[in-house]
Amino acid sequence: MRMMAGKRYYGEQVGDSEEVKRFQELVRETLRLSDFSNVGDFLPIWRWIGGDKGFQNEMLGLKAKRDKFLEDLLEEHRRLRSDLKFDREEKQTPLIQVLLSLQEAEPEHYTDDVVKGIMWDLFAAGTDTSKSTMEWAMSLLLNNPHVLKKAQEEIDLHVEPGRLLDESDVEKLPYVHSIVMETLLNVPTWAIDDTT
Ligand code: HEM
Repeated sequence: MRMMAGKRYYGEQVGDSEEVKRFQELVRETLRLSDFSNVGDFLPIWRWIGGDKGFQNEMLGLKAKRDKFLEDLLEEHRRLRSDLKFDREEKQTPLIQVLLSLQEAEPEHYTDDVVKGIMWDLFAAGTDTSKSTMEWAMSLLLNNPHVLKKAQEEIDLHVEPGRLLDESDVEKLPYVHSIVMETLLNVPTWAIDDTT
């Protein structure tokens, strides 16, 4: 969401505004419903007798909430554009602004539906995948206590106690960084750069 909209919806400093609550609720509902097995997909008769109506209604309800959330986000970014509050030269341009530029240039291709679709596609593709990868990395660390210990020692040395790590810490933590790289690239880091 930081790449897309230039803001965070999770973390210590986000607070609990209505927008944050709406987004977190959307994520919870999306993950809950995507874990569901729909009986009607396996037993067509279940569908014929209308057994999956409840599931369908929940899905449609979620779609409507998701659509409204994305529409509001688009509107907010349109206002930022027209108020010129958004610095178009800024290096980290949120993706929504890029999509809005494309919409201005090619309105017949970049309709609101297409823009919202791209936004949700990236969001859906990037959320559960990142979460599961993180979970695997943690479980592998637990199964390799010597690596976990080394990572903890590095963190204790460079990060003051009582706060969570953030991106700006990474450059001080080459060992932890290597663990992240190895997890994401699925190859040992020595195969990429032997200085790490
Ligand atoms: C560790 C995290 C991630 C994992 C393990 C992962 C895994 C994958 C896999 C296996 C594919 C299918 C590739 C193929 O069949 O060719 C894929 C496609 C895709 N992923 Fe990810 N992904 C991750 C993070 C992300 C993030 C953060 C985003 C977006 C912000 C993203 C967006 C996409 C998109 C858009 C596609 C479709 C690409 C295409 O077919 O054109 N993914 N991902």
